[in-house]
Amino acid sequence: MGRRSVHSLKAMKQRGERFALVTCYDYPSARLIDEVGIPGVLVGDSLGTTVLGYQSTVPVTLEEVIHHTKPVVRGTERAFVVADLPFGSYQASPDDAIRSATRLMQEGEATAVKLEGGAHIASTVTRLVEVGIPVMGHIGLTPQSVNQLGGHRIQGKTAAAAVKLLNDGLALEAAGCFSIVLEGIPAPVAALISERLAMPTIGIGAGPGCDGQIQVWHDMLGLLPDFLPRHTKHYAALAEGARNALASYQREVIDGSFPTLDHAFELDQDALEELRHLTGEATGVTGVGPFDW
Ligand code: KIV
Repeated sequence: MGRRSVHSLKAMKQRGERFALVTCYDYPSARLIDEVGIPGVLVGDSLGTTVLGYQSTVPVTLEEVIHHTKPVVRGTERAFVVADLPFGSYQASPDDAIRSATRLMQEGEATAVKLEGGAHIASTVTRLVEVGIPVMGHIGLTPQSVNQLGGHRIQGKTAAAAVKLLNDGLALEAAGCFSIVLEGIPAPVAALISERLAMPTIGIGAGPGCDGQIQVWHDMLGLLPDFLPRHTKHYAALAEGARNALASYQREVIDGSFPTLDHAFELDQDALEELRHLTGEATGVTGVGPFDW
Protein backbone atom coordinates (compact mmCIF):
# COMPACT_ATOMS: atom_id res chain seq x y z
CA MET A 1 0.00 0.00 0.00
CA GLY A 2 2.89 2.36 0.73
CA ARG A 3 3.37 5.17 3.15
CA ARG A 4 0.65 7.79 3.66
CA SER A 5 1.21 11.24 2.24
CA VAL A 6 1.55 14.13 4.68
CA HIS A 7 -1.19 15.81 2.65
CA SER A 8 -3.69 13.19 3.84
CA LEU A 9 -4.07 15.31 6.99
CA LYS A 10 -5.46 18.20 4.96
CA ALA A 11 -7.96 15.88 3.30
CA MET A 12 -9.01 14.75 6.78
CA LYS A 13 -9.47 18.34 7.91
CA GLN A 14 -11.61 19.01 4.86
CA ARG A 15 -13.76 15.98 5.68
CA GLY A 16 -14.03 17.11 9.30
CA GLU A 17 -12.19 14.03 10.60
CA ARG A 18 -9.98 14.39 13.67
CA PHE A 19 -6.68 12.52 13.81
CA ALA A 20 -4.23 11.44 16.49
CA LEU A 21 -0.45 11.57 16.04
CA VAL A 22 2.19 10.46 18.52
CA THR A 23 5.92 10.83 18.97
CA CYS A 24 8.15 7.83 18.48
CA TYR A 25 11.87 7.13 18.84
CA ASP A 26 12.41 3.39 18.25
CA TYR A 27 11.51 0.34 16.15
CA PRO A 28 9.18 -1.71 18.40
CA SER A 29 7.10 1.35 19.28
CA ALA A 30 6.90 2.31 15.61
CA ARG A 31 5.52 -1.14 14.78
CA LEU A 32 2.76 -0.78 17.38
CA ILE A 33 1.83 2.66 16.06
CA ASP A 34 1.55 1.34 12.53
CA GLU A 35 -0.52 -1.65 13.68
CA VAL A 36 -3.04 0.69 15.29
CA GLY A 37 -3.28 2.76 12.10
CA ILE A 38 -2.07 6.10 13.47
CA PRO A 39 -1.48 8.16 10.31
CA GLY A 40 1.82 9.78 11.22
CA VAL A 41 4.59 9.85 13.80
CA LEU A 42 6.97 12.54 14.93
CA VAL A 43 10.54 11.76 15.86
CA GLY A 44 10.47 14.76 18.14
CA ASP A 45 13.47 16.38 19.72
CA SER A 46 11.56 15.52 22.90
CA LEU A 47 13.73 12.42 22.58
CA GLY A 48 16.25 14.52 24.50
CA THR A 49 14.14 14.53 27.65
CA THR A 50 12.23 11.25 27.21
CA VAL A 51 14.98 8.92 26.01
CA LEU A 52 18.36 10.60 26.47
CA GLY A 53 17.84 12.12 29.93
CA TYR A 54 18.62 15.74 29.04
CA GLN A 55 16.99 18.57 31.00
CA SER A 56 15.54 20.15 27.83
CA THR A 57 15.48 19.68 24.06
CA VAL A 58 18.23 22.27 23.56
CA PRO A 59 21.21 19.83 23.62
CA VAL A 60 19.69 17.44 21.06
CA THR A 61 21.83 17.11 17.93
CA LEU A 62 21.00 16.40 14.31
CA GLU A 63 22.92 13.12 14.56
CA GLU A 64 20.73 12.04 17.49
CA VAL A 65 17.52 12.79 15.59
CA ILE A 66 18.82 10.93 12.52
CA HIS A 67 19.83 7.97 14.72
CA HIS A 68 16.30 7.70 16.14
CA THR A 69 14.52 8.41 12.85
CA LYS A 70 16.03 5.37 11.09
CA PRO A 71 14.42 2.69 13.32
CA VAL A 72 11.09 4.51 13.31
CA VAL A 73 11.10 4.47 9.50
CA ARG A 74 12.05 0.77 9.53
CA GLY A 75 9.17 0.04 11.94
CA THR A 76 6.47 1.79 9.94
CA GLU A 77 5.06 0.87 6.55
CA ARG A 78 2.02 3.13 6.47
CA ALA A 79 2.56 6.08 8.83
CA PHE A 80 4.45 9.09 7.52
CA VAL A 81 7.47 10.01 9.61
CA VAL A 82 8.19 13.62 10.51
CA ALA A 83 11.63 14.32 12.02
CA ASP A 84 12.38 17.37 14.13
CA LEU A 85 15.04 19.84 13.07
CA PRO A 86 16.86 20.27 16.39
CA PHE A 87 17.97 23.54 17.95
CA GLY A 88 20.83 25.15 16.06
CA SER A 89 20.39 23.09 12.90
CA TYR A 90 18.22 25.56 10.95
CA GLN A 91 17.98 28.99 12.60
CA ALA A 92 21.14 30.59 11.23
CA SER A 93 20.17 30.49 7.55
CA PRO A 94 17.83 28.83 5.04
CA ASP A 95 20.89 27.05 3.62
CA ASP A 96 21.59 25.50 7.02
CA ALA A 97 17.97 24.42 7.18
CA ILE A 98 18.12 22.82 3.73
CA ARG A 99 21.35 20.98 4.60
CA SER A 100 19.97 19.69 7.92
CA ALA A 101 16.58 18.73 6.50
CA THR A 102 18.27 16.96 3.60
CA ARG A 103 20.22 14.83 6.09
CA LEU A 104 17.01 13.96 7.97
CA MET A 105 15.44 12.84 4.71
CA GLN A 106 18.43 11.13 3.07
CA GLU A 107 20.08 9.49 6.09
CA GLY A 108 17.04 9.22 8.37
CA GLU A 109 14.60 8.63 5.47
CA ALA A 110 12.05 10.95 7.10
CA THR A 111 9.00 11.89 5.03
CA ALA A 112 8.98 15.48 6.30
CA VAL A 113 10.58 17.79 8.85
CA LYS A 114 9.29 20.01 11.64
CA LEU A 115 10.74 23.26 12.85
CA GLU A 116 9.81 25.74 15.57
CA GLY A 117 9.04 29.43 15.13
CA GLY A 118 6.55 31.89 13.66
CA ALA A 119 6.61 34.53 10.93
CA HIS A 120 10.37 35.08 11.34
CA ILE A 121 11.07 31.54 10.10
CA ALA A 122 8.58 31.69 7.18
CA SER A 123 11.24 32.54 4.57
CA THR A 124 13.17 29.43 5.62
CA VAL A 125 10.01 27.35 5.24
CA THR A 126 9.52 28.77 1.75
CA ARG A 127 13.04 27.68 0.74
CA LEU A 128 12.59 24.20 2.21
CA VAL A 129 9.29 23.71 0.41
CA GLU A 130 10.77 25.06 -2.85
CA VAL A 131 13.44 22.36 -2.81
CA GLY A 132 10.87 19.64 -2.15
CA ILE A 133 10.92 19.24 1.63
CA PRO A 134 7.50 19.05 3.35
CA VAL A 135 7.47 21.16 6.51
CA MET A 136 5.37 20.98 9.67
CA GLY A 137 5.37 24.22 11.66
CA HIS A 138 5.31 24.57 15.45
CA ILE A 139 4.20 27.69 17.34
CA GLY A 140 3.12 28.63 20.85
CA LEU A 141 5.21 27.00 23.55
CA THR A 142 8.30 26.16 21.51
CA PRO A 143 10.56 24.10 23.80
CA GLN A 144 13.77 24.95 21.92
CA SER A 145 13.26 28.54 23.13
CA VAL A 146 12.71 27.50 26.75
CA ASN A 147 15.58 29.69 27.94
CA GLN A 148 14.21 32.69 26.06
CA LEU A 149 10.63 32.04 27.22
CA GLY A 150 11.81 31.69 30.82
CA GLY A 151 10.40 28.17 31.21
CA HIS A 152 7.73 25.94 29.72
CA ARG A 153 5.06 28.66 29.87
CA ILE A 154 1.68 28.80 28.16
CA GLN A 155 1.80 31.30 25.27
CA GLY A 156 -0.85 33.56 23.71
CA LYS A 157 -2.50 34.56 26.96
CA THR A 158 -3.31 38.14 25.98
CA ALA A 159 -5.38 39.25 22.99
CA ALA A 160 -2.28 40.80 21.40
CA ALA A 161 -0.23 37.65 21.92
CA ALA A 162 -3.07 35.56 20.49
CA VAL A 163 -3.25 37.76 17.37
CA LYS A 164 0.50 37.36 16.95
CA LEU A 165 0.12 33.57 17.08
CA LEU A 166 -2.65 33.73 14.48
CA ASN A 167 -0.44 35.86 12.23
CA ASP A 168 2.44 33.42 12.73
CA GLY A 169 0.17 30.58 11.65
CA LEU A 170 -1.01 32.49 8.58
CA ALA A 171 2.60 33.32 7.62
CA LEU A 172 3.66 29.68 7.93
CA GLU A 173 0.67 28.56 5.90
CA ALA A 174 1.50 31.09 3.16
CA ALA A 175 5.11 29.83 3.24
CA GLY A 176 3.90 26.31 2.45
CA CYS A 177 3.71 24.33 5.71
CA PHE A 178 1.46 21.28 5.32
CA SER A 179 0.36 21.41 8.97
CA ILE A 180 1.25 23.10 12.24
CA VAL A 181 1.70 22.07 15.86
CA LEU A 182 0.01 24.39 18.37
CA GLU A 183 1.65 23.73 21.72
CA GLY A 184 0.73 25.18 25.09
CA ILE A 185 -1.77 27.85 24.12
CA PRO A 186 -5.23 28.59 25.52
CA ALA A 187 -8.00 26.47 24.00
CA PRO A 188 -10.03 29.39 22.53
CA VAL A 189 -6.92 30.74 20.80
CA ALA A 190 -6.10 27.35 19.32
CA ALA A 191 -9.71 26.93 18.17
CA LEU A 192 -9.63 30.34 16.47
CA ILE A 193 -6.33 29.54 14.70
CA SER A 194 -7.68 26.15 13.62
CA GLU A 195 -10.75 27.82 12.15
CA ARG A 196 -8.73 30.47 10.29
CA LEU A 197 -6.09 28.18 8.80
CA ALA A 198 -6.76 25.86 5.88
CA MET A 199 -3.85 23.63 6.91
CA PRO A 200 -4.50 21.17 9.75
CA THR A 201 -3.58 22.20 13.28
CA ILE A 202 -2.14 19.62 15.66
CA GLY A 203 -2.64 20.40 19.30
CA ILE A 204 -0.70 19.51 22.41
CA GLY A 205 -1.90 21.41 25.42
CA ALA A 206 -4.08 23.47 23.09
CA GLY A 207 -7.53 22.06 23.79
CA PRO A 208 -10.10 20.14 21.77
CA GLY A 209 -10.59 22.75 19.03
CA CYS A 210 -7.55 21.64 16.99
CA ASP A 211 -7.93 19.45 13.91
CA GLY A 212 -5.73 16.73 15.37
CA GLN A 213 -3.73 16.02 18.50
CA ILE A 214 -0.24 14.82 19.25
CA GLN A 215 1.03 13.26 22.46
CA VAL A 216 4.51 12.32 23.60
CA TRP A 217 4.88 8.52 23.76
CA HIS A 218 6.40 8.40 27.24
CA ASP A 219 3.83 10.81 28.68
CA MET A 220 0.68 9.13 27.39
CA LEU A 221 1.83 5.60 28.23
CA GLY A 222 2.89 6.44 31.78
CA LEU A 223 6.55 5.64 31.22
CA LEU A 224 7.66 8.63 33.30
CA PRO A 225 4.98 8.28 35.99
CA ASP A 226 6.11 11.22 38.10
CA PHE A 227 5.61 13.53 35.14
CA LEU A 228 1.96 14.21 34.36
CA PRO A 229 1.64 17.66 32.84
CA ARG A 230 -1.89 19.01 32.49
CA HIS A 231 -1.94 18.47 28.74
CA THR A 232 -1.37 14.73 29.08
CA LYS A 233 -3.53 11.78 29.99
CA HIS A 234 -2.04 8.43 31.02
CA TYR A 235 -3.62 5.84 28.73
CA ALA A 236 -1.52 3.11 30.35
CA ALA A 237 0.77 2.60 33.33
CA LEU A 238 3.72 1.02 31.53
CA ALA A 239 6.32 2.09 34.09
CA GLU A 240 4.36 0.39 36.85
CA GLY A 241 3.99 -2.75 34.73
CA ALA A 242 7.69 -2.76 33.89
CA ARG A 243 8.70 -2.14 37.54
CA ASN A 244 6.51 -5.03 38.73
CA ALA A 245 7.88 -7.30 36.00
CA LEU A 246 11.51 -6.48 36.83
CA ALA A 247 10.94 -7.04 40.56
CA SER A 248 9.30 -10.45 39.85
CA TYR A 249 12.15 -11.45 37.57
CA GLN A 250 14.78 -10.55 40.14
CA ARG A 251 12.88 -12.35 42.91
CA GLU A 252 12.47 -15.53 40.86
CA VAL A 253 16.13 -15.64 39.79
CA ILE A 254 17.19 -15.23 43.41
CA ASP A 255 14.76 -17.85 44.77
CA GLY A 256 15.52 -20.25 41.90
CA SER A 257 12.03 -20.42 40.42
CA PHE A 258 13.27 -18.96 37.11
CA PRO A 259 14.51 -20.35 34.83
CA THR A 260 13.06 -23.86 34.96
CA LEU A 261 13.85 -26.57 32.44
CA ASP A 262 10.86 -25.26 30.47
CA HIS A 263 13.05 -22.30 29.57
CA ALA A 264 16.14 -24.41 28.82
CA PHE A 265 17.36 -26.56 25.95
CA GLU A 266 17.65 -30.34 25.97
CA LEU A 267 20.65 -32.48 25.17
CA ASP A 268 20.21 -35.55 23.03
CA GLN A 269 20.18 -38.74 25.22
CA ASP A 270 23.22 -40.26 23.51
CA ALA A 271 25.21 -37.05 23.87
CA LEU A 272 24.15 -36.87 27.49
CA GLU A 273 25.33 -40.43 28.18
CA GLU A 274 28.62 -39.71 26.47
CA LEU A 275 29.05 -36.48 28.41
CA ARG A 276 28.42 -38.33 31.68
CA HIS A 277 30.89 -40.95 30.70
CA LEU A 278 33.54 -38.44 29.67
CA THR A 279 33.17 -36.11 32.62
CA GLY A 280 32.77 -39.02 35.01
CA GLU A 281 35.98 -40.56 33.79
CA ALA A 282 37.79 -37.27 33.69
CA THR A 283 36.58 -35.77 36.94
CA GLY A 284 35.02 -38.53 38.92
CA VAL A 285 31.59 -36.85 38.93
CA THR A 286 28.59 -38.69 37.60
CA GLY A 287 26.29 -35.80 36.78
CA VAL A 288 26.46 -32.23 35.60
CA GLY A 289 24.55 -29.60 37.52
CA PRO A 290 21.75 -29.92 40.06
CA PHE A 291 19.14 -31.49 37.77
CA ASP A 292 17.88 -35.01 37.97
CA TRP A 293 18.74 -36.32 34.49
O1 KIV B 1 9.50 17.18 20.20
C1 KIV B 1 8.30 16.89 20.32
O2 KIV B 1 7.91 15.83 20.80
C2 KIV B 1 7.32 17.86 19.86
C3 KIV B 1 5.89 17.57 20.16
C4 KIV B 1 5.60 17.94 21.56
C5 KIV B 1 4.98 18.26 19.22
O3 KIV B 1 7.68 18.85 19.30
